[in-house]
Amino acid sequence: MAALRDLECSWALLLPALLGCGAADDGDPAASQGRQLFSRYGCVTCHRADGRGGPMGPPLSRAGDHWTREDLAEFISEPSRFVEGDARLRTVAAAYRAPMPGVTLDLEQRLLLADHVLGLRSDG
Ligand code: HEC
Repeated sequence: MAALRDLECSWALLLPALLGCGAADDGDPAASQGRQLFSRYGCVTCHRADGRGGPMGPPLSRAGDHWTREDLAEFISEPSRFVEGDARLRTVAAAYRAPMPGVTLDLEQRLLLADHVLGLRSDG
């Protein structure tokens, strides 16, 4: 019977851990999808956000000062087109060695990404 009791104990430990995973997404599936896309498509490799990420792109914590979600969703698919036509972005781009690559995602996913970026508040 000892083996069975061990099994029950391990389930009892596992269950709160599984429930805990869900809670980490703040209960908002769209927000968690945006965060996942931000990691999966490599944004975090170049942009520092939520305390992690690289220095190959500008910090995004003030993106809300410059972007609507629709423009941002466009930008994500074809950044160079926006950089060419925007003096502020050209100045930003001049500080980085390589331009941002666009990603091929459907509009719905790009809007989720845009919402995530607009929600980033600190560089920390
Ligand atoms: C290879 C590095 C790299 C990757 C990967 C990358 N970026 Fe960028 N990002 C840059 C650079 C560099 C710029 C500055 C503009 C330029 O040079 O193209 C930039 C600019 C931006 C800006 C505009 C910043 C401003 O000042 O308005 C946003 C928003 C942005 N990136 C979001 C993203 C998102 C979202 C992703 C993931 C889909 C992503 N980036 C992936 C390097 C990167």
